[in-house]
Amino acid sequence: MRGTYKAVEVSAPGTLRIAERPISEPGPGQVRMRVEACGICHTDATTVTGTYPGLTLPRVPGHEVVGRIEALGSGVSRWKIGQRVGVGLIAGEDGICEPCRRGDAVNCQNPVVSGVTVDGGYAEVMIAEARGIASIPDELSSAEAAPLLCAGVTTYNALRNAGLRAGDLVAVQGIGGLGHLGVQFARRMGFRTVAIGRGRDKEKLAKDLGAHLYIDAAVEDAGTVLQRMGGARAILATGTSGEAMARLVAGLAARGKLIVVGAPEDQIQLSAIPLIFGGRSIYGSLTGTPIDSEDTLAFSVLENIRPMTETFPLEKAADAYARMIEGKARFRMVLVTKDGVGRSA
Ligand SMILES: NC(=O)c1ccc[n+]([C@@H]2O[C@H](COP(=O)([O-])OP(=O)(O)OC[C@H]3O[C@@H](n4cnc5c(N)ncnc54)[C@H](OP(=O)(O)O)[C@@H]3O)[C@@H](O)[C@H]2O)c1
Ligand SMILES: [Zn+2]
Ligand SMILES: [Zn+2]
Repeated sequence: MRGTYKAVEVSAPGTLRIAERPISEPGPGQVRMRVEACGICHTDATTVTGTYPGLTLPRVPGHEVVGRIEALGSGVSRWKIGQRVGVGLIAGEDGICEPCRRGDAVNCQNPVVSGVTVDGGYAEVMIAEARGIASIPDELSSAEAAPLLCAGVTTYNALRNAGLRAGDLVAVQGIGGLGHLGVQFARRMGFRTVAIGRGRDKEKLAKDLGAHLYIDAAVEDAGTVLQRMGGARAILATGTSGEAMARLVAGLAARGKLIVVGAPEDQIQLSAIPLIFGGRSIYGSLTGTPIDSEDTLAFSVLENIRPMTETFPLEKAADAYARMIEGKARFRMVLVTKDGVGRSA
C-alpha cells in the first residue's frame, strides 16, 4: 500500500497539529490498522505536554484505538485482514524482563506504550504489535468500544482484582472518563456503589449510571459520609488530585483498600495510623493486558455497559482534547475518522 494518511501529532510540547504521513508496511509480528475511533484519555496529557518519561517528539497520542486490520506483518497468524481490533496503552511486552517471566506482562519493564514509545491512534492508520491487540465484539460500535480499552479495562481490572464480595460498599471517586465506567462496573459486579464527584450536576448522571448514592465532595467530606455508612471495603480513586485521594483513607472500613488508578501530579500524603490500626491499605493498579481488555468488552456486552461519549472528527482533535482537559467531557471524548463515520456512532 502506498500513499499517505492523516495523523494528529504532538510536534512540540502543547501543540497538536495535523500531519500527512507516508503509509508504511507492518514489520514482523505487527499489523496495520485503519483506525475508526480513538478515545481521549487524561493520560494523553503526558504525551501532549511532553512529560511522559522517555518520550520523544513528534509523537501521535492515543491509546484507546479501534480499527480494522488492513495488512499483516510476517509471522502473524492469529489475526485476519478486515478483522476489527483494538489497542490500549500497554501494547506489547518484551517477554524477557522479570515481571514478564513471572507472568505479569502489564508490569513489563520495557513495554511498547501506545502514543509514547510508538505512534498511537489520533490517526487514520496505526501500526500495532499483534500481541498487543484485542478482538472487538460485534455488539459494540467502534466509538463505544474505544473507551473500554483504557478507561474501561483500568477500572474493571482494578475492581475485579480487589478481592471484594457481593454487597460490599465500594466507592468510585472522580466521575470522569474512568470513573463513569467504574461506577457502572461496580454496580454490575454487585457492590453497594457510591459515586464521589464534585458538584451537583454529576449527581443525576452518576445515579443513572448505577450509583446507589452520590457524594458531592465539594460540600461534604466523602470520608465522613462513607464512615457513617460503615466504611468502604474499597475506594477506586480515579481523580487527578493526590490531596483529595489522601482524604479518602478516612472513609475506609477495617481492611479497606484505597486503589489508586488516577495519576495526580501532586503527592498523596498519608498518616500511618489508619493503615496500621485497621489494616487498611493503599496500592496502585495499571490498566490491563489485551486479554483483560477482551474480558472488559465481554462483560460490557453481557451487562449492557456502555461509555457515555462525545464524538469529534479526527481533524478536531485539539478541540476535543481541550474539552477533556477542561473537565467538560461527558464523559469520554472520542475521535472518529472518515472510516469510522457511520460505523461508530
Ligand atoms: N492507572 C491507569 O492505568 C490509568 C489509566 C487511565 C488513566 N489514568 C489516570 O486516571 C486519571 C483520570 O483519567 P480520566 O481519563 O478519567 O480523566 P478525566 O476524564 O479528565 O477525569 C478527570 C477526573 O479527575 C477528577 N478531578 C479533577 N480535579 C480534581 C480535584 N481537584 N479533586 C478531585 N477530583 C478531581 C474529576 O472528578 P470530578 O470532576 O468528578 O470530581 C474527573 O473524574 C488521570 O490521572 C489519568 O492519567 C490511569
Ligand atoms: Zn488511558
Ligand atoms: Zn517485560
